[in-house]
Amino acid sequence: MAGFIICGAQWGDEGKGKITDVLCEDFDYVARFQGGNNAGHTVVHGGRTLKLHLIPSGIMYPDIVPVIGNGVVIDPRVLLEEMDALEQQGVSCERLVISTNTHLIMPWHRDLDGANEHRLGANEIGTTRRGIGPAYQDKASRLGLRMQDLFDRSIFREKVATALEEKNDLLAKVYGLPTYTVDEIAEEYLAYGQRLKPHVAEISPLLNEALDQGKWVLFEGAQGTLLDIDHGTYPFVTRSNPTAGGACVGTGVGPTRIDRVLGIAKAYLTRVGSGPFPTELAGEMGARLIEAGHEYGTTTGRQRRAGWYDAPVVKYAVQVNGLTDLAITKLDVLSCAETIKVCVAYEHLGVRYTTVPGHQSAFHHAQPIYEELPGWKTDISGCRTFGELPQAARDYIGYLEELAGVPVSIIAVGPDREQTILRDWPRR
Ligand code: IMP
Repeated sequence: MAGFIICGAQWGDEGKGKITDVLCEDFDYVARFQGGNNAGHTVVHGGRTLKLHLIPSGIMYPDIVPVIGNGVVIDPRVLLEEMDALEQQGVSCERLVISTNTHLIMPWHRDLDGANEHRLGANEIGTTRRGIGPAYQDKASRLGLRMQDLFDRSIFREKVATALEEKNDLLAKVYGLPTYTVDEIAEEYLAYGQRLKPHVAEISPLLNEALDQGKWVLFEGAQGTLLDIDHGTYPFVTRSNPTAGGACVGTGVGPTRIDRVLGIAKAYLTRVGSGPFPTELAGEMGARLIEAGHEYGTTTGRQRRAGWYDAPVVKYAVQVNGLTDLAITKLDVLSCAETIKVCVAYEHLGVRYTTVPGHQSAFHHAQPIYEELPGWKTDISGCRTFGELPQAARDYIGYLEELAGVPVSIIAVGPDREQTILRDWPRR
């Protein structure tokens, strides 16, 4: 094994950061392949609590090279703040490598993200307002600015001027917002470029050569399958491809180099932002899951929506990503439930669906069909082997395996890296 992808099997926030942190000490490289500072996770490491938005968790290990792939969009100001914060906590960022082709989030992207959400009103997507969507939009429009542009003053100024011709009109005439000048942008961003320059490289040759030499590369996804622009609950999605295919596109590594694709799924389900969520719990049980699972966003602090585990969603993720196995996280949170419901299928207009329906209306109105399992009502956060889990918890995992059609090789029973059960994981 050498090339390994970790991706979210639900709507994001599945605990990918923690699992990456647990597994990555076996790897030589950890590469982020999409998204930007819309992502965020808290890593509890060596008694320190670190909040990461852009930098891969591998940064905590001195022998790992953390890589930010070309598929990521970078807000340079935010990246530098994150690097400074890590350095202040004694974590060196010297090894960080950033693809020369990453696209930049510019101030107008942030402004337009907020303005667009405001315009949509009740139909808002519920974005993180970090400028992610508008930055990817400019990438697709071939109007984007890339990391490499920061190292050529005249090209950068020229590209900013071209972008501002359109953006200033949009900001001022459509949204009544302040505009930008080439001079102010160039001065600020060229300075960011000078600070980031030592980290910038071509990452496709770097990662391919590493794989040729038998090195282990972990491709770390942000968000989740159902937030994928192509395969998610469009339009309530992010602008990138968090699915496994995105790892290849977002780093310049071919699919034949990938050996294993691990999907991360919470033992229940959450999502932030708008959009369909058939198993959402509005009442007391939902509040209990939010409380027990501390379901508030790392990036925006927003309270997440919570519900029961949705097997059709995970089955869909198995298919779209070609998952080889699953990690089930936050199993300990379900200790708060007397009985546990699992959505095994949906029903809509007399049709039964065992995976995500192809048509959006069917998904929006899907009625979940539940199986009810006994809870275990006991603290499992101290369990370190599968055998130590109560029978009801083992049965729950067995049932999820049966429904997903792939094994559950990792189980998380708490936020700390030690609170992890590795059932089938080849340590190096
Ligand atoms: P954007 O990525 O900021 O454009 O937001 C688009 C949608 O993706 C919104 O519903 C966000 O709440 C959601 N989203 C973006 N990043 C994350 C994440 O890291 N976890 C969960 N949801 C996310």
